[in-house]
Amino acid sequence: MAASGDDRVEYRRYKGIPMAADDVSAEDMDAIQDFVVRDDDVFIVTYPKSGTAWMQRIVSLLHFGGDVSKTDRKKIDELVPYFEQKDGDSATFRELSEVPSPRLIKSHLHFFLAPLQLKQGKGKVIYVARNPKDLAVSYYHFHFMCSTLKTPTSWEQFLKDFVSGEVYDEAWHNHVLGWWEQKDNPNVLFLKYEDLQKNTRKEVEKVAEFLQWPVTPEVIDKVVEQSTFQKMATNPATNKVAGKGAKSGVFDFSKGTYFRKGVVGDWKSHFSDEQSQWFDTFYQEKLGPTGLHFDFE
Ligand code: A3P
Repeated sequence: MAASGDDRVEYRRYKGIPMAADDVSAEDMDAIQDFVVRDDDVFIVTYPKSGTAWMQRIVSLLHFGGDVSKTDRKKIDELVPYFEQKDGDSATFRELSEVPSPRLIKSHLHFFLAPLQLKQGKGKVIYVARNPKDLAVSYYHFHFMCSTLKTPTSWEQFLKDFVSGEVYDEAWHNHVLGWWEQKDNPNVLFLKYEDLQKNTRKEVEKVAEFLQWPVTPEVIDKVVEQSTFQKMATNPATNKVAGKGAKSGVFDFSKGTYFRKGVVGDWKSHFSDEQSQWFDTFYQEKLGPTGLHFDFE
């Protein structure tokens, strides 16, 4: 079954995963398996809309000791580039051999598509997961503003496509469970968006400890302060729209915003009772036996 929605956008599949026009070619996806990972590489891996930019900001602030005069010299996507996306005509991951260590990298790859050496324990992975109800709402809105994604015809239709995996990056549960299985590997830190919301400081400390980057409590203070939703939404280095016109690359900011609400529980404004029950039953079946739970409020 093809993803429904705007027919002007096509997804191609690589090993079953729907990919968009700005992703690298199938040949490059094959080549990703042989990517040479460095011990101090930091991969931030997520399913889209899980808080990727938030973790990109946290890790880059930690790297620069909370010094915004250093982090804000570049856009967040330059500091933490998107591994499997094309940068112009070239694959971003191919340009990383030129980048000094430690390399900070963003990726939406499923575990089985990640570089072999990363899967074997080289480098570090920070995986951020978000409850699927808020994520589906966030993803739905994102589809209107991103030109490489199919504009949904309705919330109901989008929700069906999301659950069945007929969306960019395929089914959320396959992505999250593929990485959840790796959570006990020493090179993987598995975090949740809801925990970041509840106690940002504690989660930032976990990240610093996992990366073994020595940081003072003052640095942690700065990281927490500079990575709030408000700060990121109003900072041109972290908000893709700030200081720009209505369109930028694949984004049309007249149709939505990257920093939309940034809360837990917004799903209640979109799900009917029936949709909520159907959704819960589906994910209880998928996640229940795995021990992976989420807060929904
Ligand atoms: P909403 O659409 O629910 O507002 P990603 O970066 O993976 O695309 O995720 C985007 C989601 O993370 C959006 O969710 C966005 O608002 C939220 N987000 C980004 N920065 C955040 C922050 N500092 N604090 C809380 N939420 C944040």
